[in-house]
Amino acid sequence: MKVLVTGGAGYIGSHTVLSLLENNYDVVVYDNLCNSSVESLRRVEKLTGKSVKFIQGDICSKDDLTKVFNQFNIDAVIHFAALKAVGESAEIPLSYYQNNVHGTVCLLEVMQQQKVHNFIFSSSATVYGEESDVPYVETMKLGTPSSPYGASKVMVERVLADTANANKEFRGVSLRYFNPIGAHESGAIGEDPKGIPNNLLPYVAQVAVGKRDKLSIFGDDYPTQDGSCERDYLHVMDLAQGHVAALNWLNRNDEFRGVEAFNLGTGNGISVFAIVKAFEKAINKTIPFDVSPRRAGDLPAFWANASKANKELNWQATRSLEQMMADTWHWQSNNPNGYLV
Ligand code: NAD
Ligand code: UFG
Repeated sequence: MKVLVTGGAGYIGSHTVLSLLENNYDVVVYDNLCNSSVESLRRVEKLTGKSVKFIQGDICSKDDLTKVFNQFNIDAVIHFAALKAVGESAEIPLSYYQNNVHGTVCLLEVMQQQKVHNFIFSSSATVYGEESDVPYVETMKLGTPSSPYGASKVMVERVLADTANANKEFRGVSLRYFNPIGAHESGAIGEDPKGIPNNLLPYVAQVAVGKRDKLSIFGDDYPTQDGSCERDYLHVMDLAQGHVAALNWLNRNDEFRGVEAFNLGTGNGISVFAIVKAFEKAINKTIPFDVSPRRAGDLPAFWANASKANKELNWQATRSLEQMMADTWHWQSNNPNGYLV
């Protein structure tokens, strides 16, 4: 089976490409490299001993996408390509709607023309918005996230529902990721953010490797056990395997038409202070930090009810917090400058 992976050179995409190859799927990556390097795919090739076809292109170009579908016999699409910085999305919202919403519409139009109906979308826990109770469960209504980034994910989920209503062949899956962290156990691929990291783990790892002086913990006065925010962190390789599980689910369920959402998380909330402690333990070194004011838009605590994915996809996050920390460090210490060698 041939899978087109948009955004496949990025953090989650490259780990998923590795899992797909290990599970004997044939992969074509389509990425404009706006937030990644093709080096990630070269390393995936080394790790798996298999080759990855790579096409540099933008999902907003229907002409380029059409060429790819004409060149390869694509059976399914896994769609990672998007802009993802929550803060930046408030500064340049139109770029986020253009890239994430319009880009997805272009891709879906070309898929429809090409009669390719299997689609897996990178959604996010952010679609539950600010009002939902925790743990989040798929039966909850889509919420109203505060950021344009979050809104773009809700919009695409709506686009998918309408597409499925109109096109009776459509077979869509929305995977709602919680907080992916860590790296492949080889330490050869991992998360390589450009500039100052927005997310917690890359920031902690850069402090540990000496690239940043100290971590700022955004708020210790939340209504949580230790006052810092709690999130559902899952290992990126568990998440990668969730995509393989979703493809297998589509393959098993020939009759399925429509669109189905699945939460991918561990089901546990971990605080920022607990993450720092776990990382310190993994590297046997202290992480300097201070506590600064709350970051706008952060919710106090959320985690997944992942029982639907457990039951229907036969998928479960199995890697421990200790492994997430050790693998983050393995990647960061081996590659202090990411893919820039
Ligand atoms: P990433 O930035 O590492 O990967 C995204 C990839 O898409 C990059 O390689 C980038 O070059 C590419 N891309 C962006 N716009 C493109 C376009 N117009 N055309 C072609 N390629 C384009 O991010 P990631 O963390 O791997 O995230 C992958 C997906 O998962 C995104 O859709 C993101 O919104 C979603 N997601 C991520 C997280 C997270 O915490 N990392 C959480 C929830 C959802
Ligand atoms: N944090 C710090 N200091 C930092 C960075 C983060 O204290 O330097 C804290 C945040 O305040 C938050 C926690 O660490 O409490 C996690 O923050 P991240 O930015 O790593 O993750 P978020 O939960 O804010 O966001 C992630 C993804 C988004 C997605 C969201 C909901 O990055 O794409 O989960 O799924 F929308």
